[in-house]
Amino acid sequence: MHDDIDRILFSESAIRARVQALGQKITRDLVGQDVVILALLKGSVVFVADLLRAIDIPVKVDFAWVSSYGHATTSSGKVQLKVFPDEQLRGKTVVLVDDILDTGRTLSEVARRITQDLGAGSLRTCVLLDKVARRVVPVPVDYVGFEVEDVFVVGYGLDFADRYRNLPYIGVLKPALYEGGES
Ligand code: IMP
Ligand code: MG
Repeated sequence: MHDDIDRILFSESAIRARVQALGQKITRDLVGQDVVILALLKGSVVFVADLLRAIDIPVKVDFAWVSSYGHATTSSGKVQLKVFPDEQLRGKTVVLVDDILDTGRTLSEVARRITQDLGAGSLRTCVLLDKVARRVVPVPVDYVGFEVEDVFVVGYGLDFADRYRNLPYIGVLKPALYEGGES
């Protein structure tokens, strides 16, 4: 285990099994539909790479990049799409994928843009982790990997100051590393 990690919450094998199950559920639910998997950069890249290979129907893949202003421990209300999807979403079934659902600001705003501005036919939301206790904006979420307590987690795509994304497991960052500083 990495020195900066306090404890492992979800091991590589636990994540693998859960992502496999999510992929199978998405496959069953969306068979026959015109599906675009839309992943939010950068946090969901590891998750979506595994999720895609667990989905057994034809899908297209695209990415969007969201910026949120304010203190970095929690996203502000001002969430913007910084990079829009290239893929035409009009009329498609869009599966919006993110690493973690926290306050809900990011996902609710992106969901609104995708349906209202980009004309998606229907929207499903999929997150690896759901920090239920921190929700500020209610967001309907269709596929959840794991619920997680209110602790700051890294690994499997999730970062702190753009680090730790490459850890193969999800762990709790030692609080000493972000306490007392901008996080
Ligand atoms: P929300 O808009 O507050 O739901 O924020 C979601 C975003 O906050 C995620 O896409 C992550 O980038 C970030 N985030 C929230 N909690 C954590 C965490 O525990 N570790 C790493 N990133 C987090
Ligand atoms: Mg993120």
